[in-house]
Amino acid sequence: GAKVTLRRLRELAETGTPIVMVTAYDFVSGRVAERAGVDVVLVGDSGAQVVLGLPDTTAVTLDEMLTLAKAVRRAVTTPLVVCDLPFGSTEVSDEQAVTTSVRFVHEAGADAVKIEGAGPARLSRLRAIVEAGIPVVGHVGLTPQTATALGGLRAQGRTVDDAIRVARDALAVQDAGAFAIVIEAVPAVVVAEIRRALRIPVIGIGAGAADGQVLVQHDLLGVTEGRAPVFVKRYAALGEAMIDAVEAYASDVRAGTFPGAEHVYPASDEVAAAVRA
Ligand code: KIV
Ligand code: NA
Repeated sequence: GAKVTLRRLRELAETGTPIVMVTAYDFVSGRVAERAGVDVVLVGDSGAQVVLGLPDTTAVTLDEMLTLAKAVRRAVTTPLVVCDLPFGSTEVSDEQAVTTSVRFVHEAGADAVKIEGAGPARLSRLRAIVEAGIPVVGHVGLTPQTATALGGLRAQGRTVDDAIRVARDALAVQDAGAFAIVIEAVPAVVVAEIRRALRIPVIGIGAGAADGQVLVQHDLLGVTEGRAPVFVKRYAALGEAMIDAVEAYASDVRAGTFPGAEHVYPASDEVAAAVRA
């Protein structure tokens, strides 16, 4: 299909066509997203846990995120590719945030970047990146990069005061120049109000109906283990299927039933004769 553009996302939102976004972290998951026909691929810093086995998103480095993003980009041609700006790659200054974002564009071919939060420094970074000509997606509600500092991965906007705070954050992110916003782990009724106040597309995760949805690919595939958040829907149990396949291979090898005749190279008559001699 035709490459998804910012204009296309706006059109989808305006016509009430939900935007489909999914994460990817390497060539395979990028290809899956491409072939499945999603609109937006997010190289999420959730890759810290999902593919690097790190304890939380703050542990992944900029260089690691660039490696993941490059692999995804090699597989993705149609969807818009958005890359998460990881913890530590924007905290120092607006200049650092722009330099980091330019690296995602130059080195990884990112179409846009995503930045968490709506505090004064976050908004300043967001404006600086947009001014540098790089499209930015905002992210409010539950923001995992700072969640540990704020008391864990918990739903946001569940009191009147906190709902107002999340709404103010969303408006501030829009005003700072974001072309879309991810709202994570906020009650659907609150998100519905926020949507009415915003003109940019709202991509929800644990946020109810919105202009679009995003999920961690490995969660929806059932590859990740352990208890998933309530907002995850598992569409397959591929983790079990993968383990079953490798177990079957291991038992074949141990039983001597792999490799079979169909998995070996035939030798030429000349070589066969020489070996026998
Ligand atoms: O890193 C990630 O996967 C994300 C989505 C959950 C929005 O930021
Ligand atoms: Na993220």
